[in-house]
Amino acid sequence: MATILVTGGCGFIGRHVVEELLEQGNGVRILDALIDQVHGDAEAMVPEAAEVVRGDMRDKAAVEEALDGVDAVIHLAAEVGVGQSMYEIARYVGGNDLGTAVLLETMIGRPVRRIVVASSMSVYGEGRYLTSGGEQLGFVRRRSEHIKAGQWDPLGPDGEVLTPVATDEEKPVDLASIYALTKYAQEKQVLIFGEAYGVEAVALRLFNVFGAGQALSNPYTGVLANFASRLANSQAPMIFEDGRQRRDFVHVRDVARAFRLALEKPDAAGHVINIGSGQAYTIAEVAALLAEAMGVPHIAPEILNKARSGDIRNCFADISKARELLGFEPRYRLENALEPFAEWVRSTGAIDRGAEMKRQLEERGLVS
Ligand SMILES: NC(=O)c1ccc[n+]([C@@H]2O[C@H](COP(=O)([O-])OP(=O)(O)OC[C@H]3O[C@@H](n4cnc5c(N)ncnc54)[C@H](O)[C@@H]3O)[C@@H](O)[C@H]2O)c1
Repeated sequence: MATILVTGGCGFIGRHVVEELLEQGNGVRILDALIDQVHGDAEAMVPEAAEVVRGDMRDKAAVEEALDGVDAVIHLAAEVGVGQSMYEIARYVGGNDLGTAVLLETMIGRPVRRIVVASSMSVYGEGRYLTSGGEQLGFVRRRSEHIKAGQWDPLGPDGEVLTPVATDEEKPVDLASIYALTKYAQEKQVLIFGEAYGVEAVALRLFNVFGAGQALSNPYTGVLANFASRLANSQAPMIFEDGRQRRDFVHVRDVARAFRLALEKPDAAGHVINIGSGQAYTIAEVAALLAEAMGVPHIAPEILNKARSGDIRNCFADISKARELLGFEPRYRLENALEPFAEWVRSTGAIDRGAEMKRQLEERGLVS
């Protein structure tokens, strides 16, 4: 039986990954600091059959204890709020990048066969676009004066509105937030380490993950969680810009399977791989679908017509590489998975902190 260390294994994705690994007959150890923002005062839901080391990624002694006798590592522990990363910079860079550095340094000389790190779609910045002439653009940025004027869609070289298309792993990265920077540094650290020490390394770039167990009281993460907490409290979801920005929502069970496949499939070693659903939805569509699923279709979202610093307009995944290297095929579609998600949200008594999040960003001039 292989023993796998899952860092951040008490978090949203972590708990599903742990369950997936246990179901497949692996031994699992978790290293998690159980940080307040994610776990609050509530007793953390720690999977029972897993062994838990409570500790911070930056604490070498805790990491040493967690790595003892481990065959492979899935590294999920991270601070995860894009907006928050723009003002709690030391916390994000410290937890995510120094944390990864301590993990890798502690792995030197240990018989860890493979490490899979959770990276993020945020490293792309804007996704891929086509010009009106059919040319693919890999590097698109919105100009702040356009955003301030409410021109939300990125413009091409001739001033035309560009068409968003699925983003593949060859698209150059463009780091637009401190969070994205920390995720890219995590990904690179792991791949460089793998190459140098002969450890098989894989980075999964996750798109918008949703599902039961998502942190609903943490206003800095997951748009679906934010909308769900608002709707559960009879409040309108708050949508930045005009609501027509597009994203890719992938179910957490599909993500958990992708992590297991990334541990198992020999061809994945050394690769960066997108994990998404391969489907694009506008944020306004998602708000409407969720309101319907939660039984409050009359609550229309509040369109703020304001942009959040560091946000991108469109990004959805090309998952060809995941299909080819991992044999990954998403099993869940957003439309079908929202009912059970809504049921779970209702059962949790979600606290809505959306207004607080907006105020904190506004106070720091990060909304315009
Ligand atoms: N949820 C998404 O949509 C999404 C998208 C892209 C990438 N990711 C990545 O997936 C991973 C897991 O995300 P999640 O949504 O489950 O987040 P989460 O906040 O629910 O879980 C993260 C876990 O890591 C722990 N943790 C944080 N900092 C730590 C530290 N310094 N030391 C030890 N433990 C620490 C937390 O206590 C928490 O249990 C993260 O690396 C995140 O960047 C998530």
